[in-house]
Amino acid sequence: MDMRLEDWSDKLAFGIDVIDAQHKQLFELAASFEGNGDQIRVMKTLALLGNYVKEHFRDEEQLLELCAYPDLDAHRELHRTFRDMLRDLLADAGKMSLDEIADRVRYLINGWFYNHIMVADLDYVPLLKQRLGDTG
Ligand SMILES: [Fe+2]
Ligand SMILES: [Fe+2]
Repeated sequence: MDMRLEDWSDKLAFGIDVIDAQHKQLFELAASFEGNGDQIRVMKTLALLGNYVKEHFRDEEQLLELCAYPDLDAHRELHRTFRDMLRDLLADAGKMSLDEIADRVRYLINGWFYNHIMVADLDYVPLLKQRLGDTG
C-alpha cells in the first residue's frame, strides 16, 4: 500500500487530553528509533512501543464503550490489525538490520497509525466530546 509518512503535528490533536497525550507519546517513541545504533536498545524500545500501543488501544476502547460509540466493533478490529502488524515486526526484528526496523516503525506509526488517527479516530471525536464535555 502506498502510504504517506507524516510526523506528529497539532492538527492531530482532538482536544481530548488523554487521547492526544497517548497519540503524541507514540510518535515520540517512534522518532527515537532514528539514528539509534544499539540492537539491544532498539529491541527494548520496540517492546515498549508494543506496550504503549496496547495500553492506548485498551484505554481508547474503554472510552468508546463508555460513550456507546456505535462502530466500536469495527474500530476494535482495526486496532487488532495494528497489534498483529507490531507483533510480526517484533518477531522479525531479530533478523532485521536496524535501518530496516526503523523503516518498518516509520511505516507503522508515521503511516498506518497516522492514517488511523486522521480517519478512524477522528470519527469518534464529536460523540466523545459531546459525552465527556468539551473541557477535555
Ligand atoms: Fe483507534
Ligand atoms: Fe487512537
